[in-house]
Amino acid sequence: MKIPAHVARQLRRLATEGTVNCYLYDMDPMRERFVNLFKALPEQVQPFYAMKANPHPAFLATAKQSGAAGIEIASLGEAKRAVDAGFRPDQLIYTGPGKRPEELRWCVEHGVRTVHVESLVEAFRLQQICRERGAVQDILLRVNANFDIHDAQTTFSGGSRKFGVDEELLPEVLPRLLALDALRFRGLHVYAASGVLNVADLLQNCRLVFAMAQQIERDFAAVRCDIIDFGGGFGVDYLEEGRSFDVTAYGEGLARLIDAYQLGDRRFVLELGRYLAAECGWFCTEILDIKTSRGKKQVICAGGINHFRRPAALAINHPVAIVRMGRTPLFDGQEGVDHEQVYFGGPLCTGADKLANDVLIDSAAVGDIAVFGLAGAYGLSMSNIEFLSHARPQEIVLA
Ligand SMILES: Cc1ncc(COP(=O)(O)O)c(C=O)c1O
Repeated sequence: MKIPAHVARQLRRLATEGTVNCYLYDMDPMRERFVNLFKALPEQVQPFYAMKANPHPAFLATAKQSGAAGIEIASLGEAKRAVDAGFRPDQLIYTGPGKRPEELRWCVEHGVRTVHVESLVEAFRLQQICRERGAVQDILLRVNANFDIHDAQTTFSGGSRKFGVDEELLPEVLPRLLALDALRFRGLHVYAASGVLNVADLLQNCRLVFAMAQQIERDFAAVRCDIIDFGGGFGVDYLEEGRSFDVTAYGEGLARLIDAYQLGDRRFVLELGRYLAAECGWFCTEILDIKTSRGKKQVICAGGINHFRRPAALAINHPVAIVRMGRTPLFDGQEGVDHEQVYFGGPLCTGADKLANDVLIDSAAVGDIAVFGLAGAYGLSMSNIEFLSHARPQEIVLA
């Protein structure tokens, strides 16, 4: 990974103020990605920003300025932050298992666009809330499809899941759902996988979802799937293999499928997190110690999984590079890194506190700054922020 000049400049400035441990954000990649999306996607497809990727106000503001259809939320906290950023409740779509009654109540009272129902229990709970208020709520039904994508970092469908209703249970579940008079069924939410770089895989998912929607419409005369939500899933190149998600090919393929299945009068939703946010952020943390332990080089940084948990949680290295600071060694013979495989960890008292494993680093010394790329998505928002009570890392938006 090449560290952009404005990132390195900012880090050199910060290093004069104390130990460096921060996220640096540059919102330009998100702006560009929205431009590309609007160019590539068929007009029936609406891109939402999945704010779980990064709820920082700069990300929400950029999504808004870039023309996002709205925000995909998964908690009341996210709902409130999205509203604070200027999104109307009818631009919010609410997904995720385990929604609390008070969260559903907020949706109904504020007119959230669609609640994506994950089970019959949730549907009945929402019905009860709507009845108490004399309201009707638009819903999508999330389906745990009977297929999965193999070439994905995380899968959300196939097998036994906490997400949605199993596809094969639809004949039992749908009639009960449709009988709930305070819920207006608008369509399906089928989210197969996250971190997918292969366009053909995601298009295959769309094809299977279209076939599922048509089958449901044949089986249930009262059902029309006006809205089909494919979730998120566009991948980024964590492994630095030179791969990128080809949004043009995806848009063309999806347009062909919409034609083939004669679904041009429907609307389609994408809830994209990683694709929009990952390239906007770097986690930057000062190297406090370097030592060799039983033949392995251990590099200990100011922040660990308390501030950047994703690599450990998903057992994947992010791209990493070093900003050299040229600090004077504390003693003669102090260890550094000289073209070696190294293990990056943080200051936490757990062996799980790993930032990167077995990566080749050209040179590094104590006082340098390790910079982890593609950290704009699922960085701080996914971390163990309270563990050991270290100060929160600064989040700085570069001009
Ligand atoms: C329901 C839902 N929508 C959207 C997303 C965003 O996915 P991605 O960041 O892969 O685009 C997620 C991620 O977990 C999700 O659970």
